[in-house]
Amino acid sequence: MISRILCIGAGYVGGPTMAVIAKHCPNVQVVVADINKERVAAWQSGHPPIFESGLQEVVRASLGRNLRFTGDVEHEIGEAEMIFVSVNTPTKTFGQGAGRAADLQYWEKTARSILHHAKRPVIVVEKSTLPVRTAEAMERIFKNRRHGQRFEVLSNPEFLAEGTAITDLEAPDRVLIGGAETPEGQAAIGELVDIYARWVPRERIITANVWSAELSKLAANAFLAQRVSSINAISAICEQTGADILSVARAIGSDRRIGAQFLKAGVGFGGSCFQKDILNLVYLCEHNGLPEVARYWEAVVNLNQYQKERFVRRMIRVMFNTLAGKRIALFGFAFKANTGDTRESPAIQICQELLAEQAQLSITDPEALEGARHFFGTSSERVTFEPDPYKAAEGAHAVALLTDWAEYRTLDYRRIYDAMERPAFLFDGRNLLDCEELHAIGFNVYAIGRPDRTDL
Ligand code: UDX
Ligand code: UDX
Repeated sequence: MISRILCIGAGYVGGPTMAVIAKHCPNVQVVVADINKERVAAWQSGHPPIFESGLQEVVRASLGRNLRFTGDVEHEIGEAEMIFVSVNTPTKTFGQGAGRAADLQYWEKTARSILHHAKRPVIVVEKSTLPVRTAEAMERIFKNRRHGQRFEVLSNPEFLAEGTAITDLEAPDRVLIGGAETPEGQAAIGELVDIYARWVPRERIITANVWSAELSKLAANAFLAQRVSSINAISAICEQTGADILSVARAIGSDRRIGAQFLKAGVGFGGSCFQKDILNLVYLCEHNGLPEVARYWEAVVNLNQYQKERFVRRMIRVMFNTLAGKRIALFGFAFKANTGDTRESPAIQICQELLAEQAQLSITDPEALEGARHFFGTSSERVTFEPDPYKAAEGAHAVALLTDWAEYRTLDYRRIYDAMERPAFLFDGRNLLDCEELHAIGFNVYAIGRPDRTDL
């Protein structure tokens, strides 16, 4: 029975996952180590460095009992029986596979560090999404072990979505654990199953070989992203033909074989995983001599780019073919609602394109203004940051809604309209608002995949 767990990487995945494990396993000491000292201090003080509903409560409940955050990675490796690796694996920006392959430098550094500092038999669990067969590479590094050291590598990909991380961890659709088909591998799987089984029904814990587990994670994200690109592709046809994407999505989603979720057309998918994982899959296909399969998945990312470009093109076209000097209020910068995360947010590309048109931007977001500042804070005098959406819209020619925050639904749009320039434009990039009502107020309304509502 495992009594001491270490997680390396206190990010969006490592922090919440360990907090939930600590909650359900009060007799297991859970330590989360990270090289970023500021992050560690924030977690350890009970003020998590990421915004996630319910997270603070779960962290605080176990802090000082069986949950601890530290910067001393090496020392903790020596104490651990099970080590989760949850460091980031961004898309490579240099050398071979740049722009596609995963950058594995942090991950390899972590594997070497485990090799050097482990003092007892260790089960190493890959949490980070990694290219298929990474565990095998990890095992090769561990083959250089000193006498008496023992390592068993498992793959346990995380399927949580940001914004719902705690509920996803508390009641997952499934937990996936991949391990070697040897007696030692099966025993290690058993140890990890025992941990999850404290709160997850056994039938939802799926075991597999390591490669299948690794590939399942990439494939799951690719399928999800593909759905978003599919509905966005249909939204483009809707705009050209007068069909309404909401009706079409409803009709499609009512088929139980298709299902209703993940059919929301919008400005495109963002977040740290979808694009990275698909590009990773594309690279894997190319590497394995499957160019047709690679092109198939690559199209999902290309369509996503196109959707963002299309949104801006529509703005330019309806606003009399010029945005130069016009003030545009951007409602939302996070890649989706209920998170402060801005990684790969569609808002980034949209803002860049609007700036290239010499528009003035005022960005508002309930949680992601810091992230927005990070991208545009110093680059341009033409960008302002405004916590209050009413102020952001003052004197604006257009409002572009980019994140589906529920609070944007209940704003007083008459007040917003009264403070804007005429004609006032509203671009609903998430199909969040009531277009008829807005049109009745006086807005010229353009929503994704829906007929224009305009008097121009
Ligand atoms: C990460 C990966 O991006 C993702 O592919 C995977 O599925 C899960 O882990 P996330 O938790 O969102 O996702 O990443 P991030 O928030 O960037 O956290 C990674 C943490 O690892 C950072 O806090 C970073 O400081 C830390 N880290 C990184 C280390 O402690 N050591 C390193 O060598 C590198
Ligand atoms: C995703 C996966 O859902 C999760 O299982 C995995 O572990 C990590 O990647 P996340 O990126 O947090 O999670 O968010 P998700 O809710 O999947 O949304 C991703 C993007 O797709 C967001 O930008 C969202 O706005 C967009 N999206 C989602 C749509 O545009 N339409 C939809 O119908 C659903």
